[in-house]
Amino acid sequence: MRLTDVLDTVLDRSVVLGYTWIGPALRQHWWPENPAPGSMSGKHVLVTGATSGLGKATAAGLARLGADVYVLGHNREHIERAMVELESDVPRGRFHAEQCDLSNLADVRRFCEDFAARVPELSTLIHNAGTMSHERRETDEGHEFTLATMVLGPHLMTSLLRGPMAAAPDGASVLFMSSGGMYTAALRDDDPEYREDAYSGPKAYARVKRMQVVLAQMWAQRLAPDGITVESMHPGWVDTRGVARYLPKFRAITLPFMRNVEEGADTMIWLAVARPRAGAQSASGQFWHDRRARPTSYGRDRDQDLEKRRRLWDYVAAATGTDD
Ligand SMILES: NC(=O)c1ccc[n+]([C@@H]2O[C@H](COP(=O)([O-])OP(=O)(O)OC[C@H]3O[C@@H](n4cnc5c(N)ncnc54)[C@H](OP(=O)(O)O)[C@@H]3O)[C@@H](O)[C@H]2O)c1
Repeated sequence: MRLTDVLDTVLDRSVVLGYTWIGPALRQHWWPENPAPGSMSGKHVLVTGATSGLGKATAAGLARLGADVYVLGHNREHIERAMVELESDVPRGRFHAEQCDLSNLADVRRFCEDFAARVPELSTLIHNAGTMSHERRETDEGHEFTLATMVLGPHLMTSLLRGPMAAAPDGASVLFMSSGGMYTAALRDDDPEYREDAYSGPKAYARVKRMQVVLAQMWAQRLAPDGITVESMHPGWVDTRGVARYLPKFRAITLPFMRNVEEGADTMIWLAVARPRAGAQSASGQFWHDRRARPTSYGRDRDQDLEKRRRLWDYVAAATGTDD
């Protein structure tokens, strides 16, 4: 093992050093090379939750590399503001405004049907939109709100945009912005809608982020025959509006060490360009941070029980009416 591998692992296991700006400040000295200019030219990329924070930084980074970027948000005013900011940040960027409420499955269906008709080849689908709620809330369709936004909506979108991704000439990838918070949660297939356990916003968020990582692995197997890779990642601790709104105490303590959005979005942009497992013999479906695949559990295994995984998949497939 090289010394840099040891150092990288020490940063990761220490959490505080790896997740803050110290992580990329050190790792950039040994991580894989930066994407080449123009490496996303001619590619079409859909980024959800691209109206602020990590999604907006990802959209800007991929547009700088030449991609046509579809900037998806759910609030018209936020979308318009983000478009103005992105076009000013990347004057030659090719941005397209898209509106869809990911927590609403009917709206996801409406959006995907329209999008697939307009964009026949999709190289990258980035599931970045995220939210938290301190009380248990249900959508009009009867689903727990964070599950609907971060698992059910993205699952349905992945299924409905499979055609345009399979048609992308050099293969495609689906990328999930999960969270290091998922390490605190085991996979729960028994109460996915959080109806039985006493609700806690951070716990519900961590459970849903764990589900994203597991579903990414399961999608990776299913989409491999279509040349589509699927990966998940976590960005570390990044100063965004979402953190300020939902975790103000955490932000107050960690602020001097938090990453900026470019540092947090770096691995997402790198994954979109490098497609590290494409064509590899082992399947895609790894969990990444700072341009390196990371374990999905430390100590005891938290997500590899095959029965639990199958039950989660079956629940999500039934709730979204998908049969991939
Ligand atoms: N910041 C961190 O330290 C950190 C750490 C780990 C993981 N993450 C993950 O990174 C992702 C981005 O979060 P962020 O920190 O950049 O927060 P953010 O600035 O609040 O971004 C969240 C984005 O998701 C959009 N969104 C929320 N609900 C939506 C819905 N129903 N339909 C469509 N779009 C919706 C938001 O749009 P509006 O603004 O219009 O609501 C916004 O564009 C999330 O998945 C989050 O869980 C962040």
